[in-house]
Amino acid sequence: MEIKNIMVVGAGLMGRGIVEAAAKAGYSVFWYEKNGEIGSSSFIKLKESMNKAVEKGKLEQSAKEKALNAVTLVDDITAAADVDMVIEAITEKISLKTALFTELDALCKEETLFATNTSSLSITELAGCTKRPDRFIGMHFFSPVPVMKLVEIIKGVETSDQTFNTAADIVTAMKKEYISAPDYPGFLVNRILLVMLNEAFNCIRDGMLPEDVDKGMTLGCNMPMGPLILADFVGLDVVYSVLTILYEGYGDNKYKPCPLLKNMVDAGHLGRKTGRGFYTY
Ligand SMILES: NC(=O)c1ccc[n+]([C@@H]2O[C@H](COP(=O)([O-])OP(=O)(O)OC[C@H]3O[C@@H](n4cnc5c(N)ncnc54)[C@H](O)[C@@H]3O)[C@@H](O)[C@H]2O)c1
Repeated sequence: MEIKNIMVVGAGLMGRGIVEAAAKAGYSVFWYEKNGEIGSSSFIKLKESMNKAVEKGKLEQSAKEKALNAVTLVDDITAAADVDMVIEAITEKISLKTALFTELDALCKEETLFATNTSSLSITELAGCTKRPDRFIGMHFFSPVPVMKLVEIIKGVETSDQTFNTAADIVTAMKKEYISAPDYPGFLVNRILLVMLNEAFNCIRDGMLPEDVDKGMTLGCNMPMGPLILADFVGLDVVYSVLTILYEGYGDNKYKPCPLLKNMVDAGHLGRKTGRGFYTY
């Protein structure tokens, strides 16, 4: 199916990045955010991000204007009635996502495809609240979306090959790469990454220094940034919540969140966003 227009739902960090990628790829984008103030301020940040891309020589001025003109910020979900595809990037809460998809299912054309950017929820479970599980898929973008090249594409149990191929075409049009990942907790990348981050936390609990752990992994494994800097950047509450989902989902002790991490979250030391995590900011 040829996709011409896309609705992106949610104007947080991820929604904004997906809007930028979709608009630059030539899609006409309706951007729906339920909170008008967040929508307006996120639109300003979208412009700033594209201006930065022009300054860095990564985007032509004319392409920037074309992309921005292709984006319409809406505060009314009924704009979804005419779109070919919806990409959802709202708050990571199953009750909010199922309520949204149920509403969209009633509003949208029968052939409209639904994608979710969830990091941790089951694609099959979310698809199950709609009457179109064959046209429902996971598209897991990475942050920051304008920079990160990868999208994990996740089929639910009922997702058709045609839906997968259309999602893959969109990723390619965005000049990104995709991998197919299974509909199990953590999909592919987070399943591996979180075990490594957790082991880095265990090293700190065992008396090692954050600087040594990060230096070891950057210089010893050629990682662009150490695991503790990365965890502080992502947010220790988010890391804790994903580890808990992996632990509960697989019932495997290798995902058991390090007790030190839990203490830090309980103390409100969540990383960069609170000024204190494994480092002080
Ligand atoms: N932050 C990351 O690094 C990251 C990476 C990959 C995937 N994700 C996933 O992307 C999704 C969004 O993450 P985020 O960090 O951008 O979240 P965020 O909290 O920054 O933004 C979510 C936005 O959705 C809006 N919203 C909530 N319910 C809504 C509704 N019913 N209709 C319209 N708008 C609604 C909120 O007002 C908010 O602006 C989550 O599912 C998250 O798991 C996040």
